[in-house]
Amino acid sequence: MSAILPHGGHLINRVVTGQQREDLLALSATLPSIPVNAWTVSDLDLIGVGAFSPLTGFMNEQDYLSVVNHMKLASGAIWSIPITLAVTEDQAKGISIGQQAALVGENDGVVYAIIDIDSIYKVDKRHEAVQVFKTDDMEHPGVVKLFDRPDTYVGGSIQVLNRPVPEKFNEFYFDPSETRRLFAEKGWKSVVGFQTRNPVHRAHEYIQKAAMEIVDGLFLNPLVGETKSDDVPANVRMKSYLALLENYYPADRVHLGVFPAAMRYAGPREAIFHALVRKNYGCTHFIVGRDHAGVGDYYGTYEAQDLLKSLPAEELGITPLYFEHSFYCTKCGNMASNKTCPHDKEHHLTLSGTKVRALLRDGICPPPEFSRPEVAQILIEGMAEASKSYAI
Ligand code: ADX
Repeated sequence: MSAILPHGGHLINRVVTGQQREDLLALSATLPSIPVNAWTVSDLDLIGVGAFSPLTGFMNEQDYLSVVNHMKLASGAIWSIPITLAVTEDQAKGISIGQQAALVGENDGVVYAIIDIDSIYKVDKRHEAVQVFKTDDMEHPGVVKLFDRPDTYVGGSIQVLNRPVPEKFNEFYFDPSETRRLFAEKGWKSVVGFQTRNPVHRAHEYIQKAAMEIVDGLFLNPLVGETKSDDVPANVRMKSYLALLENYYPADRVHLGVFPAAMRYAGPREAIFHALVRKNYGCTHFIVGRDHAGVGDYYGTYEAQDLLKSLPAEELGITPLYFEHSFYCTKCGNMASNKTCPHDKEHHLTLSGTKVRALLRDGICPPPEFSRPEVAQILIEGMAEASKSYAI
């Protein structure tokens, strides 16, 4: 097994199987039910398999307030993002503390979990928004999502009875217990995790490979849960990752596995969350580049790095690897950052998202110094298929 301990000391497992599952499924038919959307299903599944260790369920009021106000669980362990179950006033009337409820998919009627309710509480969403996202601006994609939800939350441990079935790329879903086993089998003592919600462009490749020079393996762990509508869809991205790995990465030093979580766009706080979760997957290191998990200009370029640096290393328990904004320098003739390149900005290849989108829409590959042709080709095809212009 991987040497690094999960957050909180051991890997949580709340997935129930066998006769116990049968019994709980039968019981669930007698319980009040709470409808859950795809985002909540992904949260409950990640809790179930221990990706969100030490969480055993949705946060109760004590943990929620502590996380929102102090970035810690009530136990004192670092935790930066509220993981919560929201219910309408009507739904709240049908449940009570000390009872159980069934969490049922709102679209498919599947009983995903049973919750042991230990807290029902009203929240101040504006306060949550300002604390977590540093803004209550409704233009922020995470803030809009937050304000879309009811403001009563239900907390308590869960038992997962059914797991969501991926529509595609099934073979790239690995639970933390599996990645830990796989890393150990490969003999990797140090593993760097890479979060992304984008195609891997040359700058991403550069920082991944710089990290690979000092660790045993790379866990390429793209987020494939809910993202904003103008991000590249996960199935297009997956094709691009596979093409990239096939052509430019040593197969025995990279493991591709998806992170089926929703993107919060919470910048610095989400960087902490991303790091802790990758620790649970068995990573010893985690890459944090420029404006990690950011959106628009809500966060400073290195704000996520600064927040991570402010935390005690032993409490974080995973080593962040920080990278400066990287680019291709025509004078250096290679990828670089301000740490390694002495030349003026005019020699740095920078393409705006809008420009790259326009090129791809016209079926033109951006320069190979920006994106590998194999990746660009897949994005061109994906864009044509979707006939819409998502961000790159
Ligand atoms: S994120 O929202 O998932 O963080 P993205 O997929 O763009 O967005 O970034 C993945 C990782 O690469 C993040 O750690 C980010 O900071 C880093 N990164 C992205 N582009 C660059 C760049 N040009 N230079 C340095 N780091 C970068």
